[in-house]
Amino acid sequence: MKKDNKSWQSRMAQDQAEIAVDFVESISVDHRLYRHDIAGSIAHAGMLCEQGLITKGEYAKIRKGLLGIQSDIEAGRFVFDKRFEDIHMVIEAELINRIGDAGKKLHTGRSRNDQVALDMRLWTRQAIDEMIAAINNLQRVLAVKAEEYGDLIMPGYTHLQRAQPVLAGHYLLVFVEQLQRDKERFEDSRKRANVCPLGSGALAGSTLPLDRDLTAKLLDFPAITRNSIDSISDRDFCAEYVFACSLTATHLSRLAEDWILFCSQEFGFIRIADAYSTGSSMMPQKRNPDMMELIRGKCGGVYGNLMALLTMLKGLPAGYNRDMQEDKKQVFDANDTVLACIQMAAAVVANTAFKPDGIADGLEEGFLDATVLAEYLVGKGIPFRQAHHYVGKLVSEAEAKGLTLAQIPLADYQATCQKIEADVYRYLSTGNVVARYQVKGSAGKKQLKQQLAFWKRKLK
Ligand code: ARG
Repeated sequence: MKKDNKSWQSRMAQDQAEIAVDFVESISVDHRLYRHDIAGSIAHAGMLCEQGLITKGEYAKIRKGLLGIQSDIEAGRFVFDKRFEDIHMVIEAELINRIGDAGKKLHTGRSRNDQVALDMRLWTRQAIDEMIAAINNLQRVLAVKAEEYGDLIMPGYTHLQRAQPVLAGHYLLVFVEQLQRDKERFEDSRKRANVCPLGSGALAGSTLPLDRDLTAKLLDFPAITRNSIDSISDRDFCAEYVFACSLTATHLSRLAEDWILFCSQEFGFIRIADAYSTGSSMMPQKRNPDMMELIRGKCGGVYGNLMALLTMLKGLPAGYNRDMQEDKKQVFDANDTVLACIQMAAAVVANTAFKPDGIADGLEEGFLDATVLAEYLVGKGIPFRQAHHYVGKLVSEAEAKGLTLAQIPLADYQATCQKIEADVYRYLSTGNVVARYQVKGSAGKKQLKQQLAFWKRKLK
């Protein structure tokens, strides 16, 4: 006997095959849209009532019924039956089960196509706000560390070779900058997610007198979509969200890579607290930075989400296609992964100590002050290319003798270039270099102070 589980089952002469029920269902993934689905349905019903398409009494019953379902879901009392396919039909079927005929009017002028588009926009809008808050917190943690290590001089790298001295605080603010751009990207994408598609129906809108502006207002959308077909086809906001997640994951992965290098014995720059380190099952001495390695590793999965989503979309004809059901898996997964990584990164950074001794070790040996020596010569009127040449020669001589630039006697300096005077020693060594940076945005004390003041205001 036919069971008519699904609302559209009357069209079919047979029950859906078991294997087809399992294959087509999305409730196992989209159940987490329940709150957005219910909010959308209450707003839709409110509008139907306002337009005289349902009575006030029916609206009250629908609203109460939906809120009852919501509290049952939240109390863990609700069983999601996969035979109803997805969150939209599960909730509608249960509503009809609870309130009868009034429930059968809820779907008036609506399709699951505009319903799911709405739910995803509501979900994404909220996810963006949560993501921004999490990023903000990580930025704050980094800015606090930057202040804590504001005086600590460390080597700055290019090609992973020691290049010029920088303040550790300046280095740490690199990640605050990256995360600021991430936050702005999420904020910008929010504008495009924050548009109401409801009323677009299956694809062509409706002949019923629906008031789309009212539904949008009830759901706190500042605008409605213009084109009904585009409304139910569009998942750009999902792709943008997952891209913003991907670039954030990239930044977290780069932070993680630095931490992994810096806590190695070869660098010995930082120590991650035991609570955020892992041991080895075989080597008793090990303390491994697994949290950061996993952040780096999980980044690849987020790129996978983005590729899967874009590839799912690329061949779709205009309109709704069931392929689009696969969007949620990618969007939710990217969201969950990146949110967890942001929270983990904040915890690791907050529980990391920089090791001034390890950082100072060998700091004066890499000729990190060579550039400032060339700039000193520029100050003496020597063309930069000539200065570069002199310093290159001096560095190679010092290296052969096992000296730092600050240890070269004045007579040797003057043998190479007569313009070098005794004041050169006030330029050499990393401490002098860091104190002398004078260009806006440089890695020195003055600029760090300005940056810290800026972030304090911005991240309040
Ligand atoms: N579960 C579906 C999804 O996530 C809802 C829309 C189904 N629409 C349809 N015409 N079958 O995309």
